[in-house]
Amino acid sequence: MPQHGPSRASPRPSSPTTSPFSHPHRRHISAYGYEQAKALIFSTYGEPKDVLSLHGHSVSPAHSDNLTLRFLASPINPADINQVQGVYPSKPSFTRALGTAAPAAVGGNEGVAEVLSAGSGAKTVAKGDWVIVRAPGFGTWRTHAQTPEAAVMRIDDKAGLTALQVGTVGVNPCTAYRMLTDYVDVREGGWFVQNGANSGVGRAAIQLGRLWGLKSINVVRARPEGVEGLARELKDLGADVVVTDEELQDKGFGERVKEWTNGGREKIRLGLNCVGGKPATAMARVLSPEAHMVTYGAMSKQPVMLPASLLIFKNVHFDGFWVSKWAERNPAEKKRTVEDVLSLTRKGLFKDAPVLEVPWGFETKQEVLVEAVQGTLEGFRKGKGVFVFENT
Ligand SMILES: NC(=O)c1ccc[n+]([C@@H]2O[C@H](COP(=O)([O-])OP(=O)(O)OC[C@H]3O[C@@H](n4cnc5c(N)ncnc54)[C@H](OP(=O)(O)O)[C@@H]3O)[C@@H](O)[C@H]2O)c1
Repeated sequence: MPQHGPSRASPRPSSPTTSPFSHPHRRHISAYGYEQAKALIFSTYGEPKDVLSLHGHSVSPAHSDNLTLRFLASPINPADINQVQGVYPSKPSFTRALGTAAPAAVGGNEGVAEVLSAGSGAKTVAKGDWVIVRAPGFGTWRTHAQTPEAAVMRIDDKAGLTALQVGTVGVNPCTAYRMLTDYVDVREGGWFVQNGANSGVGRAAIQLGRLWGLKSINVVRARPEGVEGLARELKDLGADVVVTDEELQDKGFGERVKEWTNGGREKIRLGLNCVGGKPATAMARVLSPEAHMVTYGAMSKQPVMLPASLLIFKNVHFDGFWVSKWAERNPAEKKRTVEDVLSLTRKGLFKDAPVLEVPWGFETKQEVLVEAVQGTLEGFRKGKGVFVFENT
C-alpha cells in the first residue's frame, strides 16, 4: 500500500501558531493537497502498550487506480491484539512506506473509510463513497490511507447507516451469519448453543438466529455483579435461554436442556465455540446426534477437548471457521452478506453491539489510543472499543 508524501518526517510543526495543526477540528491539508495523517504502528511484535506508537506522515492526492481514504470508524477486535502480539496467523507487511525509520505495520484489520479522492483509473469507487477493507492486514488504526481500489469494498447504499454500524459489519456479523447458514440448513429450525454469547459475534448470532427461526441457548461467564442484567440484554435481542458456564457444567444441565427442547424432540443442530477449555467440552455434550460444533475463537486460550463418544456414537462434526479465509474465497458472497446485514440494520431488525467509542482527533495523544487497545485484553467489558475519527 504505497504512501507518498513530500516529507518523511513527523508532520508536527515547531510553531503551532502558523500551522494547520493548531486547528483541532479542521482537516489538515497542505497547499498541494497532501493530507496530514496519523497511524498507530508497530515495528516488532509484543504487548500493545510496549510496541504501538503514533506516527505522523502525509498522504498524497490519489492517482491511477488509487484512492485516498479518510477513516471514520475502526474497531479494536480481539484478533487485532493477537496480530500485534505476533500470534495471529495473518501477518501484516512491515514496510517503510510511511516514512518510518524501521519497517512498520499499521494495526487494525476492520473499519470504514470515506473516499477523499479517487485516481482517474478507479472504476468502482468515487469521491464521497464509503468503503470497508476487504482483507486482514490493511491497517485500519489510522486517520488516512492510500490504497488501490481493489483492496476495498464499496458500500452501495450508506443511507440511514452510521459509521459505527458500517465499520463493524465486516467481521462479527458476517462470522455469525456464515456459521448459522453454512453448516446446517436453517430451514429445518431447532436450536443452536453458543458460548461467549455476549460477544459481538454472539449478539449477532442471537439476532440472526431469531430472525431465521432458530432458538438459542446462550452461555456467558459468571461475573461478580451477577448475570441478570446481561441475560435481560441478550433476551431483548432474541435469546431463548441464557446460562453461565458454571450452570452449563452442572451435572443436571442435560435435564434442563431436555425441558427446553421438548424432551429432546427439538434438535440442537449447531454449537458455536469461541472459548475452548471445559466450557467447550460441556457445550459439545448437549449437541444432538449429527450436529456441528464450529470453533471460531479461543478466548480462554485452552484447547478444545472432546470425548470420543461424541464422535463415535453421536457422529457430531467438529469444524472451524475463519471469516478472513472465507471472504478471500467468496468475495461476492461477502458483499452480499454485508449488504444483507446492513439492510436488516436499516430496517431496525439488527441492533448494534455495545461499543466504547474512542474519539481520535488530530491532537489525540498516543497514550490514549494505546491504552484503548491494551484495555481490550481485559474481560467483562461494557463494549467493544472503536476508534471514531474526528474530521482530521
Ligand atoms: N474466526 C473468525 O473468523 C472470527 C471472527 C470474529 C471474531 N472471532 C473471535 O470471536 C471471539 C469473540 O470476538 P468478538 O469480537 O465478538 O468479541 P468481543 O465483542 O470483543 O467480546 C469478547 C468476548 O470474549 C469473552 N472473553 C474475554 N476473555 C475471556 C476468557 N478469558 N474466557 C472466556 N471468554 C472470554 C468476553 O466475555 P466476558 O464479557 O465475560 O469478558 C466476550 O464475550 C474472539 O475470540 C475473536 O477472535 C473469530
